[in-house]
Amino acid sequence: KASPRVRQLTTSLIRHLHDFARENELTVDEWMAGVELMNEAGRMSDDRRNEGQLVCDIFGLESLVDEITYKLASDAADEPTATAILGPFWRKEAPLKSMGDTIVSGFDDKGDRTWMHGTVTDFLTGKPIEGAVLDVWHTAPNGLYEQQDPDQPDMNLRGRFTTGKDGKYNFYCLRPVPYPIPYDGPAGKILQALDRHPYRPAHIHFILTAPGYKPIITQIFDRNSKYIEDDAVFAVKDSLIVDFKPFQGDPKADFELPYDFKLATF
Ligand code: DHB
Ligand code: FE
Repeated sequence: KASPRVRQLTTSLIRHLHDFARENELTVDEWMAGVELMNEAGRMSDDRRNEGQLVCDIFGLESLVDEITYKLASDAADEPTATAILGPFWRKEAPLKSMGDTIVSGFDDKGDRTWMHGTVTDFLTGKPIEGAVLDVWHTAPNGLYEQQDPDQPDMNLRGRFTTGKDGKYNFYCLRPVPYPIPYDGPAGKILQALDRHPYRPAHIHFILTAPGYKPIITQIFDRNSKYIEDDAVFAVKDSLIVDFKPFQGDPKADFELPYDFKLATF
């Protein structure tokens, strides 16, 4: 028995596809090129690569769906931390770490070492949240996520940290760099056809979960990064732009990045 939601989505999708074909007088050859693009995306995709998602992302679809799904009450005096797209590079079961640990192996002498710290709080009461898990991942200075790069150890630049009673977290990472989404497949072909660049501004990804609170998927963006106003996948939100501050007195870090996360209850 078809679910009403599946019926609604499918019917609407077909209507829009037909409108699209009529509106543009789509030819058989053009339609077949689209089919081949989808097939190629499928053939390229595996555990390490989600080409279908990349194609959606350069069309701004994941970003739009994120906005629709997590729309916030616009009249709230204060708001929980905004969400942002997951992107294709999250991996489950990143290493469990202790506060003050580093997620960096190698790449640690380039002047971009960063101490990130802050508190996870309830956005309404401001109280610290105990037992919040912060799952973090970012690119290496060579612009590659660990699973794209045979030269990085497994699970490099990823970690999960659990807050104690004070809700605080801190760890060492790197100041990330702008980075091209993989453009050797269909997503790249589309970008090229539109004279668009494949770059994302420097960003760090997070998933925050805590007992009793709505999980959030988000990213933060380096204010001074190239492409901050021209993200290839349209994920930047003003409230997620952060400042890396030059940091003295810690031999393990060149920058400090204070950032608090605010969660909402269910
Ligand atoms: C996408 C997201 C990322 O965070 C990234 O590093 C590359 C691509 C994406 O949405 O396609
Ligand atoms: Fe990313």
